[in-house]
Amino acid sequence: MEWMYNYVLCSIFLSLIWYLRQKNSYRRSKLPPGPEGWPVVGNIFDLGTLPHRGLAALKQKYGPVVWLNLGPVKTMVILSAGAAEELFKNHDLSFADRSINDAMRSHDFHKSSMALGAHSSYWRTLRRICTVELFSNKRINETALIRQKCVDEMLAWIEKEAKEGASGGIEVLKFVFPAAFNLIGNLTLSRDLVDPYSEMASEFKMALAGFSECLGRPNISDLFPWLRWLDLQGLRMRTDQDLAKAIQIISGFVHERVKERQQKERRPTEHKDFLDVVLDFEGSGKDEPAKLSDHQITIFLMEMFMAGTDTTSATIEWAMCELLQNPESMKKVKAELSRVVGVKNKLIESDIDNLPYLQATIEETLRLHAPVPLVLPRKAIQETVFMGYKIPKDTQVFVNAWAIGRDEESWEDALTFKPERFLGSSIGYKGQNFEFIPFGAGRRICPGIPLSHRTLPLILGSLLHHFDWELSENVSSEMKIDMTETMGLAAKKLKPLKAVPKRLTT
Ligand code: HEM
Repeated sequence: MEWMYNYVLCSIFLSLIWYLRQKNSYRRSKLPPGPEGWPVVGNIFDLGTLPHRGLAALKQKYGPVVWLNLGPVKTMVILSAGAAEELFKNHDLSFADRSINDAMRSHDFHKSSMALGAHSSYWRTLRRICTVELFSNKRINETALIRQKCVDEMLAWIEKEAKEGASGGIEVLKFVFPAAFNLIGNLTLSRDLVDPYSEMASEFKMALAGFSECLGRPNISDLFPWLRWLDLQGLRMRTDQDLAKAIQIISGFVHERVKERQQKERRPTEHKDFLDVVLDFEGSGKDEPAKLSDHQITIFLMEMFMAGTDTTSATIEWAMCELLQNPESMKKVKAELSRVVGVKNKLIESDIDNLPYLQATIEETLRLHAPVPLVLPRKAIQETVFMGYKIPKDTQVFVNAWAIGRDEESWEDALTFKPERFLGSSIGYKGQNFEFIPFGAGRRICPGIPLSHRTLPLILGSLLHHFDWELSENVSSEMKIDMTETMGLAAKKLKPLKAVPKRLTT
């Protein structure tokens, strides 16, 4: 009798397993393909230390749309221009939310954030303010002299180093970063904030850099929210400290300005900068806040620094690396500058339209070294049928702009640095050509494109026109620079580029 009892029990158990497997594979068949995950942690090891590289490798086996379970976080990865086009053209609204991680919750950053916040009327308000007041054609034209001033300062710093005999080379980023930082400082607060030598520079810079790095680091607390309170990697503690410091410094500027305005130290005729604009803001409709709070203003300003400085300086550093390793391209870009600008003249913004090779160099750099490799992660607002798959609500979406820019299906000789491919080409980075999306696409595309379109060629062109550059001795004889990147919010070069600025041409 006992054997029969065991037989029935065993049959029920096996039927149950069969039913669950069938059910799971039915559910799975409605999701994109992807690697089998480990119990509990899922596919976390498929990310590797540089997730954009780890994820790019999955395309060969699983195709352009890949499904991962990162712990409990459902994740869809987009790896081709075609899939990106389908996402941004036909489903942009469904995936317009941002995916929030634990670091972003520090000091309620995500609630006041535009770049990392939900797709909401608050986001729309901030987006409109910065599009009109910072990035419109009118504003961009009005602020050309501000950018010129920051670039002139940068050239003067480097010139000083060159005169003092920088034969061992200088860290290019040490001078480009403060220029990019002050550029945002002048647009938003009408002041220089840093220079390559000051203590204050390192304090503010370190706080923002620390915060940005924590935002981009894989965190156990995101995979297992029930372990959040343990903060096993100490990331939340670091984020809280760095963000508190950055908030303290920026809110200091805000309070100072409020006092100046109360004491009428600022003349009404004086040019209104971005801080004045956000302090004056009054919501017009029922969906808008009546005023922006001090905390909201502080985070909004901070975001401009975070979004605009690392991305800009990383792009310039990558471009310099590529040019130093590709002497033919270096020769062509310098020859174009000499011809168009004149050996004795300084590059100014109005020259940029006449410098196609310089612009192509920037484009080629952004293609190979997308500074925000996974764009900024999106999130599904609702369940969505996408390319025949049923993507659940709240799925996190990575669009791998880095992999798409290097995809052999879209680009001939994809891994070679060849600015010529952009000469006379209609492909651009404004979100219409999905094989080239370093600024993202769709409604959450980078609003800073018009500013970057001026800033990147102005900084790079000035560096190249003002100095000749040589690699310093710490580089191997085959002229190979270690091009490994590090991960934070922006993918920067792991080892800072050192190069020797030579011969002043102006
Ligand atoms: C090389 C320069 C830059 C690159 C490569 C870059 C790239 C990006 C990318 C990939 C996104 C996400 C887009 C998406 O989700 O589809 C983004 C968003 C954003 N960027 Fe940029 N960016 C650059 C410069 C700037 C500058 C100079 C600013 C402002 C001063 C800026 C402000 C922002 C903001 C506020 C967002 C959030 C937009 C939103 O969520 O609606 N960026 N950027």
